[in-house]
Amino acid sequence: MASVNRRRIVFVCLGNICRSPLAEGIFIHLARERGVLERFEIDSAGTASYHVDERPDRRSISVAAANGVELPGTARQVTANDLIGSGLVVAMDRDNRRSLERLRPEASETRIVLMRDYDLEAPGADVPDPYYGGSEGFREVYDILERSCRALLDELTA
Ligand code: 4NP
Repeated sequence: MASVNRRRIVFVCLGNICRSPLAEGIFIHLARERGVLERFEIDSAGTASYHVDERPDRRSISVAAANGVELPGTARQVTANDLIGSGLVVAMDRDNRRSLERLRPEASETRIVLMRDYDLEAPGADVPDPYYGGSEGFREVYDILERSCRALLDELTA
């Protein structure tokens, strides 16, 4: 299928194994539920290369599965190509947003936003990095991402 008319969204964190694959899976799940998935081209990436080609962290897979959400894909590093065109890039925290701003080519039309710009409970906050914590942190991140993805999808389909 040609992707010409699809809205491209790339979710970005540091490693692309914990937060951004979860955001990607949740957004796909919600868009499918609402019958609007074909309007979007959804992807995720990491600003770092440590985990390239790895599947998402088993703790992300597990909290997703507990909520009926599948996590597609393997980790990749973000490139300048992700920052070309009219798409939307959603950074999980302010560090990642800074990295993306540095990578952004001049005259890029791509919008870079924070995931929690869409979280009414804490607008503009970082999605906490759950990597070094336990499964409770992954449940907290899941709730933040679900709330934020719902609001993002509301805005994009309004
Ligand atoms: P993510 O979490 O950015 O949400 O995928 C992390 C994954 C790996 C590392 C840090 C954060 N790491 O340092 O390897």
